[in-house]
Amino acid sequence: MEIVIKSNADAAATLTAQLIAARVRAKPDLVLGLATGRTMEAVYTKLAALELDFSRCRSFNLDEYIGVPPTDKHSYRCYMDERLFDKINIVKTNTHVPDGMAPDLGAEVARYELLIKEAGGIDLQLLGIGEDGHIGFNEPLSALMSRTREKALTPATRRQNAGMFGGDPDRVPKRALTMGVGTILEAREIVLLATGPDKAAILAKAVEGSISAMISASAIQLHPRCKVVLDQDAAGALTQRDYYDWVFQNEPEWQAYR
Ligand code: F6R
Repeated sequence: MEIVIKSNADAAATLTAQLIAARVRAKPDLVLGLATGRTMEAVYTKLAALELDFSRCRSFNLDEYIGVPPTDKHSYRCYMDERLFDKINIVKTNTHVPDGMAPDLGAEVARYELLIKEAGGIDLQLLGIGEDGHIGFNEPLSALMSRTREKALTPATRRQNAGMFGGDPDRVPKRALTMGVGTILEAREIVLLATGPDKAAILAKAVEGSISAMISASAIQLHPRCKVVLDQDAAGALTQRDYYDWVFQNEPEWQAYR
């Protein structure tokens, strides 16, 4: 794992967008794993502004609320269309979000796993982190080998996401479909972006603490090709910052991003 600490949230989002752009340029038929949430909004704005060619790319989103139609502005499908897909030249039918309205959710999660497999797996998975340590909607105690499935959201997650529902946690759906931790770990590369002081404590536990099902994000420690991009606030509780900075300033692979 490599940790890059940028001066502020904007710079962290810029670096994340640059990393994605580099992969799209290197592999025009890249299979992207995408996240939603407030942290990613700046990344998608910047990515769209780069005017890359996404015409051969495919994408798989991590998660979707159950019972929220794709036309509803609270759905993650709508989030993705508005913030990214409608602004780039990706073919909409090549963008995938789990269907939280499917009559048979068991069949839907199996279909989603199969689609990822048929696409040849995910090349680059973008992740945020929840205040309870979730990635996707893998809430505490999610099995580290879990696959795409239905998951009940914690009160902490419903509070965290209330902003998108008029500030009322009770309006946030109670359940979601999410790729599993095991599904996420199969991506060939992972980039996790976290910004802001609310993420500092959980981020430090996830990357410098023990691997535990209580903190799903800690599973990224198992991944051989994983980058964590932070702003100063989200990096606030890390103990080895000097080392992470030294690596970023000196290792050749980061030269283009310094
Ligand atoms: C959403 C997702 C979540 C978010 C996380 C952080 O698709 O995967 O794990 O990345 O909840 O959300 P924000 O960025 O809103 O703090």
